[in-house]
Amino acid sequence: MISTNDIRRSFLDYFASEGHTKVPSAPLVPQNDPTLMFVNAGMVPFKNVFTGAEKRDYSTATSAQKCVRAGGKHNDLDNVGYTARHHTFFEMLGNFSFGDYFKDRAIELSWNLLTKEWGIDPDRLLVTIYHDDDQAAEIWKRVAGLPDDRIIRIATSDNFWSMGDDGPCGPCSEIFYDHGPEIPGGPPGSPDEDGDRFIEIWNLVFMQYVQEGGKIVGDLPKPSIDTGMGLERIAALLQGKHDNYDTDTFRTLIEESAMLTGTSADGEHKASHRVIADHLRSSGFLVADGVLPANEGRGYVLRRIMRRAMRHAHLLGAKEPLMHRMVPSLVAEMGNAYPELVRAQALIEATLLQEEARFRQTLDKGLKLLDEATADMAKGDTLPGETAFKLYDTYGFPYDLTEDALRSQGLSVDRAGFDAAMAEQKRAARAAWKGSGEQASDEIWFDIADEAGSTEFIGYTGTEGEGQVVAIVKNKARVDSAKAGDEVVVLTNQTPFYGESGGQVGDAGTIGNDGGLRAVVSDTSKPLGRLHAHHARVETGEIKVGDTVHLAIDVDRRDRIRANHSATHLLHAALRNRLGEHVTQKGSLVAPDRFRFDFSHPSALSAEDIAAIEAEVNAQIRHNDEVTTRLMTPDDAIAAGAMALFGEKYGDEVRVLSMGAATEKSYSVELCGGTHVRALGDIALFKIVSESAVSSGVRRIEALTGEAARQWLNAREDRLREAAATLKATPEDVPARVASLIEDRRKLERELAEAKKALALGGGGGQAAGPEDVAGVKFVGQVLDGLDPKALRGAIDEQKNRVGSGVVALVAVNDGRASVAVGVTDDLTGTHNAVDLVRAGVEALGGKGGGGRPDMAQGGGPDGAKGEAALDAIRDTLAKAKAAA
Ligand code: ALA
Repeated sequence: MISTNDIRRSFLDYFASEGHTKVPSAPLVPQNDPTLMFVNAGMVPFKNVFTGAEKRDYSTATSAQKCVRAGGKHNDLDNVGYTARHHTFFEMLGNFSFGDYFKDRAIELSWNLLTKEWGIDPDRLLVTIYHDDDQAAEIWKRVAGLPDDRIIRIATSDNFWSMGDDGPCGPCSEIFYDHGPEIPGGPPGSPDEDGDRFIEIWNLVFMQYVQEGGKIVGDLPKPSIDTGMGLERIAALLQGKHDNYDTDTFRTLIEESAMLTGTSADGEHKASHRVIADHLRSSGFLVADGVLPANEGRGYVLRRIMRRAMRHAHLLGAKEPLMHRMVPSLVAEMGNAYPELVRAQALIEATLLQEEARFRQTLDKGLKLLDEATADMAKGDTLPGETAFKLYDTYGFPYDLTEDALRSQGLSVDRAGFDAAMAEQKRAARAAWKGSGEQASDEIWFDIADEAGSTEFIGYTGTEGEGQVVAIVKNKARVDSAKAGDEVVVLTNQTPFYGESGGQVGDAGTIGNDGGLRAVVSDTSKPLGRLHAHHARVETGEIKVGDTVHLAIDVDRRDRIRANHSATHLLHAALRNRLGEHVTQKGSLVAPDRFRFDFSHPSALSAEDIAAIEAEVNAQIRHNDEVTTRLMTPDDAIAAGAMALFGEKYGDEVRVLSMGAATEKSYSVELCGGTHVRALGDIALFKIVSESAVSSGVRRIEALTGEAARQWLNAREDRLREAAATLKATPEDVPARVASLIEDRRKLERELAEAKKALALGGGGGQAAGPEDVAGVKFVGQVLDGLDPKALRGAIDEQKNRVGSGVVALVAVNDGRASVAVGVTDDLTGTHNAVDLVRAGVEALGGKGGGGRPDMAQGGGPDGAKGEAALDAIRDTLAKAKAAA
């Protein structure tokens, strides 16, 4: 039996041998189409190649594309498990011509692969064509030799294919396989076409037109080809089965599910096993492509899929979480073709385990409530919407899970009642917010959030993407459009722009489109904590609500923010290691050019502490471990050792960032919604540039990383080099040279003071002016310019010795100020007091006071020009004292 893996390979090899380039599957999250939730057809990644907007270096291609049809327009979720051919995840095999070949060759290639390569009996095949496509009919006749009754004309949209309301489209021709008259069902177009006898296996689309808003608005540059064949269907056919779930890949997963739950694969639990097998595939591939369970957007579709499978695991009697144990089988089956599955295996297992463990906590109670609510209901009855809402709100039952649970009893749910209950809850939340005194301008954000839902952040994995404009705000009012020169706030359904939160600044970048729009985003804020508001200035062109725009963040800026943000986590861990567990984060600012981190600690850090912390963080950076993110409940995260911030409000789910090597758990485990480096080596370098106090008990460290740190260190080195050049020394000798210069300077200052004193006292010869006689007392008085006031006492003593008996008064003048000292020899202190004399001098100098002992007193005043007047005042006082005596 040919395996599914062999079929995929043989399809791709066949088209490669016919000149087609093999193109790997694109990720499930569309890279170029914001209106699409998940890639749902093989042509989606080539959309812009068909329209000519994008050029590639091939004109024909082939791929096996991962597709998810759950949520959004194509939603197969409700039917999965109960039918033979519905899947949430499937692979679409396709061949594509971008203006190269058209109908002839497309039909010929497909016919040859089916009948020659794979040996399918041509008599079992029939085709449909769009009703007026005579050309296709003629080619089928010629190439395949099909008679008219096996070329069925269909007039409906069944044979006109489009990927959605916008994009390339065209008439199509579908190839059907007839399983034989023993199977019930009629040919396509007949009333019982839905039976299992005639199965569509391949759709050839003759791409010719472009649609906008569901209307054809023009031709493609050149007629093109898009084909799609579900791998699961063709595998069933080639493996001789009627049911996709009987093919090898599904059988392996179903038997695993049966084995792990101790139930039979095909008995009463058949549907549950199928649900689990299918949902395991979609969950695994979505997680591998970066989607994590959430309460909004794509993450919510994933959660719905997961929980639906988990209820079925519960039905099978699984006592412990089941899904994560099946991941190794999934990886064994499909990991060869999709290596992303191998790479993400640990994350897929952890995410499934986490979700299942969490859901189990409320599943029993929810099911009990459901049993009670439906106890008296009969087949055909409807469960009140309010009950479904309570199951959703309190027990985490997505709406479709409740529907699925009631399906086997023939009950349905009142959708309108559910929606009304949901609307009422939103209204109450808004009222509560208003009551909390938040600004009235938040009203506008509530309106937008109610209409358009939360913004989906696609910036954890990517740096650019498409978004649909859901609102434009100008001067606090909503507008429909904005043009060049306008300063506006733009909201889109999804964005890679991070909105300022958790200390990390918002992203900057550009918004543009093919129509000439260019708007520069200077900042992104996060009103209500769930809208990403781009603060932009329109430079050229026009932006309108409803437009699809290209959003691109400034990658270099974001990379620097990432490095700084991850460095705060490492710093936090290093601080705790070095200073103790009392260290907790008190605040932070993560900007592109720097970051600061505030933390509790009673005293300043020593130079050794700072050096040790820097060394530890840089050692982690050099170790270059990958940074991993897990989604957990706050309680589980804290149990796993994550540092949570006290007083911070966390949602039901938190992102847990683990980074760095350590013996038991990661070096750093923190709850964080920010964006981070992929591996620690991306930080490159970490440098603390300041440490200071913010308030009592709170310290602040400012630091740099990467290129900013390198430049800062270089600037320091430049200063050192300049200093060395000035000193005519090597940088190594600078400290010793500076120390010896300071010592030299001290010595010189001492010598200078001595010299000045000597000069002042005697014109260099040490001789002061000779004593004069004041009222019979020998008096020496002199004004000394530039004498250091500290030298006055010594000079007074010297002069006192010289006169033997008398009074000495010296005034030292420096920088316009004067100091005055008076000395009285001991034999005269009975009649003359130095303190009285100096006070007279001080007064003349415009000062106050002056003091000392009877034999020596000192003072000073601001009026340096009055030196001589001060001496006169002292003379006067001396004379008066004599007269009084
Ligand atoms: N794009 C076509 C489809 O999905 C082939 O059916």
